Amino acid sequence: MAEQRAPVHLISLHELKRNQVDDLLDLSMRLKRRAGKASLSGKTVGLLFFRGSLRTRTSLEAATTQLGGNTINLSAASDFWELESAEGSIMDGRAPEHVKDAAAVLSCYVNALAIRPKPAGASWSVDRRDAEIRMWARHARVPVINMESVLWHPLQALADLMTMRESLGDLRGKKLAFVWTHSPTPANPAAVHSLLLAAISQGMHVRVGAPAGYELDSEVMSQAQALAQENATSILSTTSMPEAARGAHVVYARSWHSLEDYGNPTLAASRRSRANSWMIDEKLMASGAEARLMHAMPVRRNLEVTDEVLDGPRSLIVQQAENRLHSQKAVLSLLLGS
Ligand code: CP
Repeated sequence: MAEQRAPVHLISLHELKRNQVDDLLDLSMRLKRRAGKASLSGKTVGLLFFRGSLRTRTSLEAATTQLGGNTINLSAASDFWELESAEGSIMDGRAPEHVKDAAAVLSCYVNALAIRPKPAGASWSVDRRDAEIRMWARHARVPVINMESVLWHPLQALADLMTMRESLGDLRGKKLAFVWTHSPTPANPAAVHSLLLAAISQGMHVRVGAPAGYELDSEVMSQAQALAQENATSILSTTSMPEAARGAHVVYARSWHSLEDYGNPTLAASRRSRANSWMIDEKLMASGAEARLMHAMPVRRNLEVTDEVLDGPRSLIVQQAENRLHSQKAVLSLLLGS
């Protein structure tokens, strides 16, 4: 019997080598110009959502279909049930099926599995391990694509890099400012974590501006510091919005949970209410270097960012969302293309 090769997964972008990311970006750009070749003819991609999505689901479906493949979409809320992900657990709880069985079975039907897991939300030190997506990757016999876990959002980061390259050209030496924004529905810091490492790998200087208590994951920040040294670039954290945005070429707005209050909604809401001035407006943008505004979306207008900025010439948010389509074609083509 022929030996089966282990599938290649995409769990986080920084697990790829710099030249692999560059190849993906080049192919994404060519596909956008309709100058690149890619085909998913006869391939089926399974999309499993344990929580909602607008862009990721639609852009992956469109990308697969446009390349001649097809998708099967399953939502845990309506199409199946909770899955157990703990190794060795006695399954007497709510979940009637284990990820390892679902992964093995679904691998018989599809050529790739894209997963958006749902964190338990009780403990950051537990959720940050990304046990669900890692379990899928361990037990699937087809490539697993992370559609946003607790820690990483590689598909978003790839589209973000592509968007910045389109707008700024060579990214080396350019300044990217992540600015925390006020929202009653903050996200996990996955998109910020992924782009933080990806941008530093491209030679960008990075600032992270957020109120006290909204520091990013400490291990990710240590990785970022090490990467910044390797790439002769810099990373600075500040609790001042103006300091973060000053001189930036890109202001990247995102609301993320306080990891200090993770699992405690009362404390989290109280901390958020003290930071409701963290909204990006034209005055802040004007302190950058002809700064562009990026946001992974969904964005709360006039709470996170003003209409004036979102609808003005600085805004890249629609281009950024469009690039999910092109860059995901590149990813699918790399993982599945013949
Ligand atoms: N940015 C992003 O992943 O959007 P969705 O949550 O709508 O998929």
